[in-house]
Amino acid sequence: MDHKTYIAEKLNVAGTAKAEIAESLAVPPDTSLGDYALPCFRFAKILHKSPAMIAEELAGSFQTDDVISSIAAVNGYLNFKINKKSLAREVIPAVLEQKCAYGSSDMGAGKTVCVDYSSVNIAKPFHIGHLSTTVLGGALVRIFKALGYNVVGINHLGDYGTQFGKLISAYKRWGNREGVERGGIHAINDLYVRFNSEATEEMEAEAREYFRLIESGDEEANELFNLFKSLTLSYVEKIYERLHIKFDSYCGESFYIDKIPAVVEKLKEKGLLTESQGAQVVDLEPFGMPPFIVLRSDGASLYATRDLAAALYRKETYDFDKCLYVVAYQQNLHFQQLFKVVELMGEPWAKDLVHVAYGMVSLEDGAMSTRKGKVVWLEDVISRCVEKAKQILEEKNPDLENKDEVAEKVGVGAVVFGALYNNKIKDIVFSYDKALNFDGETSVYVQYTCARAASVLERAAAAGARVELTDVEPNAQEFELLKAIASFPDAVKSAAENYEPSTVARFAVDTAQKFNKFYIDCKIMQAESEELRAFRLALTRASLISLTNALALLGIGVPEKM
Ligand code: ARG
Repeated sequence: MDHKTYIAEKLNVAGTAKAEIAESLAVPPDTSLGDYALPCFRFAKILHKSPAMIAEELAGSFQTDDVISSIAAVNGYLNFKINKKSLAREVIPAVLEQKCAYGSSDMGAGKTVCVDYSSVNIAKPFHIGHLSTTVLGGALVRIFKALGYNVVGINHLGDYGTQFGKLISAYKRWGNREGVERGGIHAINDLYVRFNSEATEEMEAEAREYFRLIESGDEEANELFNLFKSLTLSYVEKIYERLHIKFDSYCGESFYIDKIPAVVEKLKEKGLLTESQGAQVVDLEPFGMPPFIVLRSDGASLYATRDLAAALYRKETYDFDKCLYVVAYQQNLHFQQLFKVVELMGEPWAKDLVHVAYGMVSLEDGAMSTRKGKVVWLEDVISRCVEKAKQILEEKNPDLENKDEVAEKVGVGAVVFGALYNNKIKDIVFSYDKALNFDGETSVYVQYTCARAASVLERAAAAGARVELTDVEPNAQEFELLKAIASFPDAVKSAAENYEPSTVARFAVDTAQKFNKFYIDCKIMQAESEELRAFRLALTRASLISLTNALALLGIGVPEKM
């Protein structure tokens, strides 16, 4: 049981549920007064007493024990101190036993979460703008899995639309099979860009015709389209591999085309469809939103229509408890409209659709603009970061073995962590130097801390030293570190509840900082007694496990040495 629940169980506040008390318990910024504080002013109204009086009374009736060593009422706050030894007894053996399972739980058993993320567009650049959706989604998938949920990772491919007619037209004019197979996604994208810059009326008409041919099942047109699709996918899959990401489904927009008539029928049945300037729409004016266009006047579906079909299909196929859409905030309105339409259709699960919106990423040395050749490909950002990581490692540790492998973990980690460290809705300016700063709030700082812990443990093993919880009263540094480690399961849970992997990233930096303080201030191998050394080594191992698990949830590997 975590401390907040434990304290709440022992406190009786009339008219207030235990869960509410637990939630009200805060960790004060200055822990010299207490490890947890309960502000009592929030009970003043129900109890008709002053906060100071409530605090006094609660303090008087609270029995301290082996877990909570003291309680004090100060200015309307109740301050609790936890028993250091009992915290060590609670945390260290649990972490050492659970190892890579530490932080996970079965709270999601029997529940399914769909995560729609990364969702790339066929034949278009996989650029820096896709970084956040890809790594946020990847982290959410891992976090929900760790909590026992059944998770379906979906790449809702942008694989439908007139642009594919343009691409075929461009290919026929200027391309050939060998060329696109060799040049891959870049060659395809070049063809598309060239079409757009040179297109005449006549070419546009031709493109429309090719798109019609794809739709009507024409063999050659579909063969070409499938070639573009498979070249795009094999390109992005290589990047997903570097990011430790795997999808369960690649059902993209085109997958839903044949499911649209049934959706339109359903909307009609429910009396939701109206005509507006020839188009079929769902009126959302009463909700202060523009109409949701289902079919254009020429009968064609839209991005939104395909999303509606996808939502219904996913509910039917996976019977999800939640369906997350990890998509930039620019699409806020789109998802508000989509969710509203599902609600108007009378589907009770409309409330389980969640738009996990995030901010923009730009590079310190250039915008992320996708206009005319100024595209920043994600692959280039990753490779450049790995290269820079290698240079830094070469300077810092010229004798390091497997430099390439380590640089890959450090460089990829820096890009991923850079996108995950801040609250997801914030816009981010990515800087290579900041992301690779060994002393910053970075993944490389955490990785370096892990390597440091691993090297202590290696020396301990070589010396045959005991690594075990012993009957030691933790000092201030040890206690702070213990509390940090103990907070990991809660950090994971909160990351899932708020769709906010940054909670886990922050846990990692905070715990690494506390470990380093401990490492610098306390002798580990040279501890005053064997008992103390065993305890500190156990604490070191618990730190390494927690940090490794945190980074793993974010999709970041930990090099053994750095
Ligand atoms: N392919 C779209 C884009 O690049 C993102 C799709 C997000 N997912 C969805 N179900 N709409 O903007």
